[in-house]
Amino acid sequence: MMTSAGGVKPELIYGLRKVTEDAARAAYVWIGRGDKERGDGAAVDAMRSALQEIELEGLVVIGEGEKDEAPQLFNGEIVGQPGAAFKADIAVDPVEGTSYLAKGQTNALAVIAIAPRGTMMDPGPAFYMEKFAAPPEARGKIDPNWTTKKKIETLADILKKDVSEVAVYVLEKPRHRKLVQDIHDAGARVLLYPAGDVAGALLAAIPDSGVDALMGTGGTPEGIMSAVAIRALGGEFLARLDPQLQTEALAVKAAGLDTSRWYKVDELVKSDDLYFCATGITTGLMLEGVERTRQGFKLQTLMVTGSTSERQVLTTYTQE
Ligand code: FBP
Repeated sequence: MMTSAGGVKPELIYGLRKVTEDAARAAYVWIGRGDKERGDGAAVDAMRSALQEIELEGLVVIGEGEKDEAPQLFNGEIVGQPGAAFKADIAVDPVEGTSYLAKGQTNALAVIAIAPRGTMMDPGPAFYMEKFAAPPEARGKIDPNWTTKKKIETLADILKKDVSEVAVYVLEKPRHRKLVQDIHDAGARVLLYPAGDVAGALLAAIPDSGVDALMGTGGTPEGIMSAVAIRALGGEFLARLDPQLQTEALAVKAAGLDTSRWYKVDELVKSDDLYFCATGITTGLMLEGVERTRQGFKLQTLMVTGSTSERQVLTTYTQE
């Protein structure tokens, strides 16, 4: 087990779940109100203030963007308890699926991922990456450069399933028309969702979740967060920078980043001392959303701890 400055503390996960629970609770008020920004803002405020209770000095590697556009949880901000022994890299997505939140749809999550300082990949100017996620049995056995058909057939063999039973999570985007066609042509199922590829990647990495793989291009921040959880879960996650915007493509090129290189999960996050929490905001494939109870709230959180390879789902009942 790799240790970090400050020592490995698996129990940190229990404090950390409060950070995403508070963000989810703050976002709850904004479900179905058509206002992405204010919903996100409420979750950001709650997350930042909950982080002050956590005994770590966190450097936001993946946050709400650059300081000029994000007053809080901006990239480079120090959060938590400055001077604490555990120096960490932090990736946050206070609302993963802001459109789901604004439209009152399923699958919105509050997410945080933590790794020792300097071990999380900083994606620089890249907003998008192509991703491949699959269960632990597939780790190291599928070449992301293969055709979609070969990947699916190999995965079916590894999982001892018929190809027709393989289900692939794909974001429903125009850029994925060919991918979807190729998966159908291979004979597998496509599970199309308009947003939320963190849930898709995690479900793909969790055996028997009903999702066998995630394919396609989504956000880079979401990719790094998925990598943290999936490394801890022992699953497969591969990613390649895949700029979708012209300005992004130019910036990626200027930064000398190679868009043909596939990064392995161990390159995206280089430690086993990992912590990942996701709390459901609206009920989805992976978690139940926030519910009002007569006394407070009911919240459900997935907690993943790298040093113990533990995956836990916790239901919390708050009292107000
Ligand atoms: P937001 O929370 O920013 O709305 O992101 C949701 C999401 O669907 C991610 O899960 C995914 O990685 C990314 O957006 C894909 O981006 P785009 O919608 O621009 O293709």
